[in-house]
Amino acid sequence: MKRPQPSWLRNSIFYEIYPQSFRDTNGDGIGDLPGIVEKLDYVRSLGCNAIWLNPCFESPFGDAGYDVSDFRKVAPRYGTNEDLRHLFEEAHAKGLRVILDLVAGHTSVEHPWFKESSRHERNPYSDYYIWTSSVWEAPAEEMFAIRGSAERNAGFVPNFFHFQPALNYGFAEPDPKFPWQQPPSAAGPRAVKQELLDIMRFWLDLGCDGFRVDMAESLVKGKGQAKIDAMVAIWSEVRDWFDRDWPEAVLISEWSKPQAAIWAGFHVDFLIHFGQPAYNSLFRAQGFGDVVPGGQSFFSSEGKGDITIFSDYYDKAYAATKDLGYISIPTGNHDIVPRLADARTAEELRVAMVFLFTMPGIPVIYQGDEIGMRHVPGLPSKEGGYERTGSRTPMLWDASPKAGFSGADTARFYLPLDPSVERPNVQAQESDSLSLLHFVRHLIAQRSKYPALGSDGGYRTLHAKAGVNLLVYERTQGEERIIVALNPSAERISYKIEAETKASFEVLLSQNSAFTSENSVGLLCLNGAGYLVVKVSSGL
Ligand code: GLC
Ligand code: CA
Repeated sequence: MKRPQPSWLRNSIFYEIYPQSFRDTNGDGIGDLPGIVEKLDYVRSLGCNAIWLNPCFESPFGDAGYDVSDFRKVAPRYGTNEDLRHLFEEAHAKGLRVILDLVAGHTSVEHPWFKESSRHERNPYSDYYIWTSSVWEAPAEEMFAIRGSAERNAGFVPNFFHFQPALNYGFAEPDPKFPWQQPPSAAGPRAVKQELLDIMRFWLDLGCDGFRVDMAESLVKGKGQAKIDAMVAIWSEVRDWFDRDWPEAVLISEWSKPQAAIWAGFHVDFLIHFGQPAYNSLFRAQGFGDVVPGGQSFFSSEGKGDITIFSDYYDKAYAATKDLGYISIPTGNHDIVPRLADARTAEELRVAMVFLFTMPGIPVIYQGDEIGMRHVPGLPSKEGGYERTGSRTPMLWDASPKAGFSGADTARFYLPLDPSVERPNVQAQESDSLSLLHFVRHLIAQRSKYPALGSDGGYRTLHAKAGVNLLVYERTQGEERIIVALNPSAERISYKIEAETKASFEVLLSQNSAFTSENSVGLLCLNGAGYLVVKVSSGL
């Protein structure tokens, strides 16, 4: 069944803003909402038409704001609700949509619901979280509980860190051995779901354009198909409501399993670093986090990647979802280590960027990736960041000692600036027409110029083989046919396109490569870090 979608979503390009590290305007060393307003023209200048804002709500910041203590209040360090409303207004005036981050699966232990829920006396919040029957009870297989932190004689199930108790959306298949496991239809889970809808309505009323849903698959507990079915039930109800009352608002999931997420009703699902190995097999070199077992990333000059890990997964996911929603392969995000620019030369980085902006679906730029910002290794963990901390350092706006991030003393910065003498910055790249920043702008412009390269253009893998460092795919829209060929390795590789008689070819983008054609056959010769984007026109 084809559902309606927001009119602005097709061909949209998002920019992810990590508010604490973007731009500080009041000199406290922490980025804020007025700082975002100040930089809207910059975001627009990239060719983006939407912003995803990481959580900016009241929080003790044990997990950088993913531990919310008031879902309806902007954290004072970022500004006020009025500042957020103003941001929506200014963004809209410039043709930008703004989506918020909805932490749907858990709260902070500081949230008033949890404080009430932790009390000995039964009260309306007792069933808002998942509590075992007694503090002495181990919860169940594959689950654990935090025990001894509350007055209530029970343990609670956390969703992520220990201070992020899971909200109770129920269990897909409650285990009769554990009577505290409630079905989604029980009063507690129903009340929690209603709260979620009310929070969404609150921000939609204020002018937001939708949500990126944190850990979207985590709501109902359980395993296998039963859990997926229960999640589909919740999110399709939300989507029905959006289709009816908020048709111009978008729902994007952090699920990383497009078949499930898009089927459930999300307009877009992120294909990222967990759930399946596809994303890691493209970008994450060995030695960082949970990479492909024994593997290397495809987008590396080392040439040891295996593109079929991605293409096998993607081809299936794309076929199953292309008529229902979009897969988004982002340049990175606030959780992903390393950053795209790490361990890649400028030329290798461009090969990866060509891929990211010529695939179907919705591209998302994580702030700073457009100038090649790098992960800063070795930083002490900040607000539950651990390794992720190094991917969250302040945006580098100019070459000055404070990088244009903040007027505060650098010692007060939310996180230190990348100390590298070669650190990139926006200002320098603005005045260099050969910079990555201009290249990303150019890619975005090409994507909008050629409908075949856009979100809805057809996609077909033409070449993806284990042991060969070449990915070739075709994008199509009506009569328009564009071939993208990428060779991230250091070797030279060639590839032949057979077209119809009298076809003509036009090279749209190229690096370290040569294209020749004879009698409707195009010969692509790709040297190390080479790419070619070629438009094929039928001779008829
Ligand atoms: C998501 C967020 C991450 C956070 C976690 C818990 O993965 O992107 O930053 O720590 O959820 O909310
Ligand atoms: Ca500030």
